[in-house]
Amino acid sequence: NRSPLVVVGSANADLVVRVGRRPLPGETVRGGDLAVHPGGKGANQAVAAARLGGRVTLLARVGDDSHGALLTRALREAGVDFPAFPYGNRPTGTALIVVGPDGDNSIVVSPGANALLSPADIAEQRERLAAARVLSLQLEIPLDTVTAAVGAAGPITRVVLNPSPPTDLPAEVLARCDPLVLNQHEARHLLGVDTAPEEAAVALLARGPRSVVITLGAEGALVAEGDGTTTRVPGEEVAVVDTTGAGDAFTAALAWRLSEGDGLTPAVRYAVHVGAEAVSGAGAQSLSPRGRTPGPAVTDG
Ligand code: RIB
Ligand code: NA
Repeated sequence: NRSPLVVVGSANADLVVRVGRRPLPGETVRGGDLAVHPGGKGANQAVAAARLGGRVTLLARVGDDSHGALLTRALREAGVDFPAFPYGNRPTGTALIVVGPDGDNSIVVSPGANALLSPADIAEQRERLAAARVLSLQLEIPLDTVTAAVGAAGPITRVVLNPSPPTDLPAEVLARCDPLVLNQHEARHLLGVDTAPEEAAVALLARGPRSVVITLGAEGALVAEGDGTTTRVPGEEVAVVDTTGAGDAFTAALAWRLSEGDGLTPAVRYAVHVGAEAVSGAGAQSLSPRGRTPGPAVTDG
């Protein structure tokens, strides 16, 4: 049971309310009806990659509760290989999400069971990791676990990492990232300064990743290769419904295409297209299934 793409990350129940305007501190505003969606950056990536046609394993922890059951069902329905870990004593991770009038969101994440995903869990899954062509990670699980997963990756495994929420990364993790995938907010956090995407990408490369991809929302993305060459991939115009999880869909599409042998820029071109589709549907797992097709014909240039 070896998947070419292994995602190690979080699974959260997303509790979503749409508002006309965000409350200020101490203020109450009225919102729309509560929606509960499966979410979490790890689960979102795994579901997106599976819906695009990939074979994908997710290593994540949920709690023994209704949210855990919701997530497990969503993953199984999407066809994700989701090996069970024993339940611990913490609730399934939760994200409290407010979606504003422009489809933009603010999120509070409560890690719950995600905090229990441990280096020992990774050690147990060592063979799956060593055999992966791509290992995709984000930072909603303990940093020690991320480091252990990168350590367990095989010599042929390409590591894709989205530093979200932004945290400083150990040098040995950064050195394996190919690419480090992040948005401008995350780049600003890691660099401590606000610069143009080209400069940010070059400054990030100097920290050790083999390549960098900066997502630019409606403007597409910027690819920076290890030799310092940068390429802009233009965005697509779409009506924005809900940006939640669009970055996860982008990264999943990128990771999946890399696992299929695409080069970085063609994979980013495809990922920009998938990210645009993701913002036009509600919830963080809004892509429609493609079935197990051989994948799109993607050409460079
Ligand atoms: O990236 C979007 C995700 O971030 C949401 O699904 C939420 O669970 C938070 O983890
Ligand atoms: Na969406």
